[in-house]
This record gives sequence, C-alpha cells and structure tokens, in this order.
Amino acid sequence: MNQVTNKTQNRVLVIGSGGREHALAWRLAQSTTVSHTFVAPGNAGTAREPNTENVDLAVNDFAAVINFCRANDISLVVVGPEQPLVDGLVDALSAANIACFGPSAQAAQLEGSKAFAKDFLLRHGIPTAAYGEFTDVLAAHQYLAKQSFPIVIKADGLAAGKGVVIAENLSQAQATVEDMLSDNKFGEAGSRIIIEEFLQGEEASYIVIADGQNFIPMATSQDHKARDNGDVGPNTGGMGAYSPAPVVTPEIDRQVAEHVIQATLDGMAQDGMPFTGFLYAGLMINAAGQAKVLEFNVRFGDPETQPIMTRLQSNLDQLCLAAIEGQLDQTEIQWDPRSALGVVMAEQGYPGAYGKGHEIQGLDQVTDEVKVFHAGTAQAGDAVVTNGGRVLCVCALDAELAKAQAKAYNAVKQITWGSEYYRTDIGFKAL
Ligand code: AMP
Ligand code: GLY
Repeated sequence: MNQVTNKTQNRVLVIGSGGREHALAWRLAQSTTVSHTFVAPGNAGTAREPNTENVDLAVNDFAAVINFCRANDISLVVVGPEQPLVDGLVDALSAANIACFGPSAQAAQLEGSKAFAKDFLLRHGIPTAAYGEFTDVLAAHQYLAKQSFPIVIKADGLAAGKGVVIAENLSQAQATVEDMLSDNKFGEAGSRIIIEEFLQGEEASYIVIADGQNFIPMATSQDHKARDNGDVGPNTGGMGAYSPAPVVTPEIDRQVAEHVIQATLDGMAQDGMPFTGFLYAGLMINAAGQAKVLEFNVRFGDPETQPIMTRLQSNLDQLCLAAIEGQLDQTEIQWDPRSALGVVMAEQGYPGAYGKGHEIQGLDQVTDEVKVFHAGTAQAGDAVVTNGGRVLCVCALDAELAKAQAKAYNAVKQITWGSEYYRTDIGFKAL
C-alpha cells in the first residue's frame, strides 16, 4: 500500500498538461504544507507559477516517474488525466511506496469502459439510462429496429470525448453503428459499443473526493459542453464552467450523494476495487428532479476544476493525503462563499482541426481579480504560444455570479492571438 508521510513540507508532482492540471498545481503550490510543485509535462502557465517547475517526463514510462519521485523526494503525486489512471500509474507508484492520489486501474474502468460502468450501475441499482451492449453489427441493428429516436451510441473505450453520438433517426443510428463496429473509426475504443436511451433534462456534474469508503463533495459546478452560445453546436471537452451551480439543489445534492456516489463507492468496495480519487458523475436531471448517471469520470473535470480550485480554501495536498489514508471522514473542507466563473478561450476550429503556434498577447494585462489558467499553451522563447484546441480558461471570483462573469469577460477581451474563439454566454443558465 501507499506509504503516506504526512510532512509539513510536501513536495508534490502533478501529472498532466491541461487547464485542470494548471489549476491543481496552482492550488497545491499555495498550500501552507507544500514547499515545491512539479508538473509533468505541464504547460506555459505552470512554468510561470512561483515554486512550480515543469519536468519533461514521459508519463507512460512508469519506471521513469518512479525514479523521478525517488530522486526528488516527492511525497505526493496527483494524477490529472484519465489515460494514466486507466493504464495503472497509481498501481505502479503505490507498489513502489510512493503516495499517489487517484484510482487503481481496476477502479478506473468506471471511465475506461462504458460497458463496465453500465454493467456496474445496473448490478448495483444506481439510476442510469436503459441500454444494450454490442460487438456485433447485426445484433446492434436488430436492437435499433425496436427503439425510438433520438438514441445515444457510445464507443466503449476512452475516445477523448469524441465517442458519443446522438442519432436522430434509424438510418443515422445504423450508420454510426457501422462506423464504430465495422469501419473502426474509433479504433479499439469502438470495437464494443453501448446503445442507450436518450434522456431529457438538464446536465450537471457532481464531483467528489473519495477515499475508498468515504467522500467529500466538491463545491457544485456546471460546465458548458457545446461549442456555441445557447448550448448548441458540436460537443467539446467544455467551453466554460462556474461554481456554485444552482441546478444542483439541496434535494438533488442529497439524492445524488446517497443514491449515486455512496452507492458507487459501496458497490466498488463490494466488488473488490475500492475507489480512491476524484470521482465525477455526469448526470441528467429530469423535470421531476430525478438524477440519472450519464457517465463516470475517474478524475476531476476540465474546465470544472478551474472555478472549483479558485474557490477551494483548504490545503489540497492534505485532502489528497487524507484520502489515500482512508481518513476523509475526519477531514473538513473549506470553500470561498463567492461564485467563480471560467471562460475557455479556444483556437478557431476546435473541436475539429485547428492551428497552433500563435503568439498570445495581453496575458499580463489582466488584473489581480482574474486568474488565467493555461491549457494548450507552450513557451517559445519569451513568448507564450497556442499549442492545443482549448488554450486558456479565464476565471474570476465575485460575490455575485453576474459580476464574476463580467470580470472574466473583461479579461478575455484583453487577450488575443488572432484566431481565438470563445462563447460569450458562459453561466447564462445560472443568471
Ligand atoms: P458522456 O461522455 O457519456 O457524458 O456523453 C457526452 C455527452 O453526450 C453528455 O454530456 C450528454 O450531453 C450527451 N449524452 C450522453 N448520454 C446521453 C443520454 N443517455 N441522453 C442524452 N444525452 C446524452
Ligand atoms: N468537462 C467535462 C469533463 O471534464 O469531462
């Protein structure tokens, strides 16, 4: 098991390079019990943070990560993205007695395989959409013939947010099934598919920190997954987020905590794969206020992390270490009562093809009231250049969400690289 040394001066390694990892590293570096933060590989934003350093580590080379931790006296590793979790990084580091916060590879199947997640939900009576699981085109077509539309078709494996298709009619559904199962458009991830009932309602994210048995909810949040204003256009990783999210009423909070999160932790423990880490339930809440699970993520949300970390006041390293030790029932969490809102600035073209290498102007013009988290950025000499689809997440805090939104958009207008794209309505559902 992990050997947790609860040092007063932790040296922390964050794995990943996105906006989520910038926000996690930024919050960790501000902890009163963290002396130094490394990010592998990080981005131009993490490179600019005080007491924070990027390291050029191949994250899929577990031996290299272990060697780095030993050589640099790392007391906690926090893993941002899903791929290294599904690949077993936590198992490898734990076996080497390095405290690593995140689920084991077995537990990470909740995100790594939609078939695993659906089977788990059904078996443990946790609310989710009705579904069928298929590897065979003919069987899938026979199933589709008896369904109503729209219907949702999902590749089983990790597909970087692109493996979900909402088919409006039978012929589109049949074509999608063929794309995934016969034409291998989604590679290995699509060799098995889920066909599931289309759920109506409002989406919400419910994110907790879990220790295998106990959990503490993160502040509520909601992201905007669609690319364009009014929540239309193609699905993206998220174009902005805010916290708190009024859609998560106290009643929904109670319902989800008990019937989704605790039920999931209990089920995973019963199944011999207790879940430690950030657990993110993507939910659909219907008009009657009932929540069903759309998906699990076994990591923090991106961009939800950015506004949530803006509001977190507790020492994040201590929360992670308490979770690794199974002591979250003895741990408290403090939040800034104000609202936080983050606007994602993306490259034009995202989530399709987009350019790279454009110099970003105006990053130093923003006021102290705003925090600019970097996602797809890189350092090129003294300049910061774009290096991904989602480039920045501009976050602001205020007692009123509308004012946080105004502050964030004022800062967004100071920043340009010529081909930026952003939504102008982040937060509209809460205002
Ligand atoms: P997922 O990765 O499973 O969360 O799916 C991505 C997005 O597809 C979700 O955020 C929803 O907007 C949509 N979606 C997924 N499953 C369903 C469903 N059963 N009914 C309606 N929309 C869905
Ligand atoms: N913002 C959605 C996600 O992180 O999956």
